[in-house]
Amino acid sequence: MEKLPRLLRFEFARIRELMKLVVTGGCGFIGSHFIRFVLKQHRDIRILNVDLLTYAGRGQNLADLKRHPRYRFVRADIASPAVWKLLSRFRPDALINFAAESHVDRSVHYASAFLHTNTLGTQNLLDATRAARTGRFVQVSTDEVYGSIPGKRRASENWLLLPSSSYSASKAAADLLCLAAHRTHGQDVVVTRCTNNYGPYQFPEKLIPLMITNALHDIPLPVYGDGQQRRDWMHVEDHCRGVLLALERGRAGEIYNFGMGTEPPNLSIVKKILTILGKPDRLIRFVKDRPGHDRRYAVDTAKSRRELGWRPQVDFEEGLVHTVEWYRQNVNWWLRLKDASFKKFYMKNYGRT
Ligand code: NAD
Ligand code: TYD
Repeated sequence: MEKLPRLLRFEFARIRELMKLVVTGGCGFIGSHFIRFVLKQHRDIRILNVDLLTYAGRGQNLADLKRHPRYRFVRADIASPAVWKLLSRFRPDALINFAAESHVDRSVHYASAFLHTNTLGTQNLLDATRAARTGRFVQVSTDEVYGSIPGKRRASENWLLLPSSSYSASKAAADLLCLAAHRTHGQDVVVTRCTNNYGPYQFPEKLIPLMITNALHDIPLPVYGDGQQRRDWMHVEDHCRGVLLALERGRAGEIYNFGMGTEPPNLSIVKKILTILGKPDRLIRFVKDRPGHDRRYAVDTAKSRRELGWRPQVDFEEGLVHTVEWYRQNVNWWLRLKDASFKKFYMKNYGRT
């Protein structure tokens, strides 16, 4: 395969004129926040959202943009030939890949869907963007690729990849494919690795929205094992800020971590949610631990602070109160997501809690 000429590499100056972005997975939790955030920040950016609308993707998450002049949506699988056609017609300046199967517990039961989207889908996008002479490719990855981090250490971007789940393994494979495309083809690729996100519009299968929505209906809150596993929760808007900075300022072929540097144990978060809602601790149920459960995630963010000028802005306590309030106010949004197929997954994963 021939190397791309320098001209096709990403140049931030081009953003300023009229930038065309493809955002994949834009109907999901983080992708939908990102699209809204970018359209607000930049008046000269057009966005094509490519999303398959799986169980986790909701057109309704962007209902307010339906008639927005700089926004378009197309339903497509990132692993399909259809995206080649879309990219050659739209001719984007950059692509940001959020599309994924994203829930670790589902990957325990249905691993191949994760390989299809997260790994093969990413390779398909790399090939299609190269053919369409797209500029920058931002791969939105996760700190879970580093696996559980021992002691008080923090994973920097060159830390060993030791994923524990099919989810994180499929994302780690995609990261390596992105970096390989950079080395082999000179493709302009940037990989971001963020810690756990929370905020409005998160599908109610992940810890924070699951606990809030169960508590609102006095359903038991299933806490895995001893509840002392630690995650570094970041408000989704801080993550979006980081991804945009990686697009604008990241160096091709580089990886950037995003994290808050806090690591509250799961149980303390669940108790906080109950306190905010004025619900009793007796709703908590300790359930059988998740297989391959990572004990602790922690990343070193010195590089993204130094090179991108990124800083998180949302305090966790405030962000959590705001998020709880959003779920309290938007019961119609999440109630229909806890449908028959969700209940089937719930039974398979948790049994009768
Ligand atoms: P999500 O599950 O809420 O959304 C995923 C979106 O991708 C959905 O809209 C879904 O319809 C779409 N999608 C799935 N398969 C597709 C396919 N084959 N083709 C096109 N679209 C497809 O996920 P999220 O939490 O918003 O995560 C977005 C990205 O951020 C993922 O790549 C994830 O690995 C990464 N990430 C998530 C977190 C987190 O805490 N949620 C943290 C760090 C990184
Ligand atoms: P989750 O939100 O699924 O994110 P991830 O597994 O990608 O970090 O889970 C966050 C933490 O909460 C993780 O340690 C698993 C734990 N957890 C529970 O204890 N009970 C649950 O029902 C869920 C969904 C998660």
